[in-house]
Amino acid sequence: MAVSRRRNTATDSRHTTMHIHRQIDALRSALADAGRIAFVPTMGNLHAGHIALIEAAREHADCVVASIFVNRLQFAPNEDFDRYPRTFEADSAALSAAGAHQLFAPDEIALYPEPQRYQVVPDPDQADILEGHFRPGFFNGVATVVMKLFQIVRPDVALFGKKDFQQLMVVRNMVRQFAMPIQIIGHATLRDSDGLALSSRNGYLSAEQRAEAPRLHRQLQAVRAELSGGCQDWLGLEARAMAELSKHGWRPQYIAIRRRADLKSPALSDRELVVLGAAFLGGTRLIDNVEVDV
Ligand code: PAJ
Repeated sequence: MAVSRRRNTATDSRHTTMHIHRQIDALRSALADAGRIAFVPTMGNLHAGHIALIEAAREHADCVVASIFVNRLQFAPNEDFDRYPRTFEADSAALSAAGAHQLFAPDEIALYPEPQRYQVVPDPDQADILEGHFRPGFFNGVATVVMKLFQIVRPDVALFGKKDFQQLMVVRNMVRQFAMPIQIIGHATLRDSDGLALSSRNGYLSAEQRAEAPRLHRQLQAVRAELSGGCQDWLGLEARAMAELSKHGWRPQYIAIRRRADLKSPALSDRELVVLGAAFLGGTRLIDNVEVDV
């Protein structure tokens, strides 16, 4: 299948076409002579954050490949796999307009024709903390599907959002430890004007919850300001931010001040930090993080 588009820049008015592939073999054939490949894996329901990754990918390669696949392996049985928003038509139009050349959108049978019994188990020191603590097995599912997608697409470079900071770190370390010749690029988080990080899950929020939702980012910023001001009472800062969220009806899971390099608890001498948070607002789980140089 192909979706035509016309690039509307003054310098480039060629008709280009984005090809859509449902099968591994078809994608592989299309990529045989593709030159340098940049890859952006997604689960669809695309927003401006995903599109920014596609646009950044164009700077790094001749051929931009996106994927859309809602990966059952990374959802726990009690999570939102079934109701995860699936908006394929809008997504493929947006990818095409953003300049993606190839879209890989397999169904489950194409990607997992048999149960995926060989899986990637990431370093528990990095995958069983924070997100992995509250979502056991999550990073096994992510690492396994990213490994499989990397084997299929064989990209030279792959782009991931810093919105999912721990995911970016797990993927970076997987690629390094398996000596995969893929450059991993982290892209800044795109936010709405009130600071809320763009996320497919924002669509679950009621109008009232949407108005409340930016508080998570505001709390992370408040912690950042304290850290920049020299405060090193990390536990106190984390506890106060959690209490503030609870006071406004949230169910925070963690607010954590960590070292950026490995997400371990910082030493007093550490300068490069990240403040990460995850909290439920009603039934919707939101995550965010901000980097801090102290
Ligand atoms: P998904 O949540 O669809 O995100 C796809 C990519 O978009 C990820 O790299 C994510 O970090 C990035 N992204 C999401 N919101 C963003 C924002 N507001 N600003 C910048 N980038 C943002 O992450 C996944 O899918 C899956 O775990 C996947 C890697 C595809 C494996 O299944």
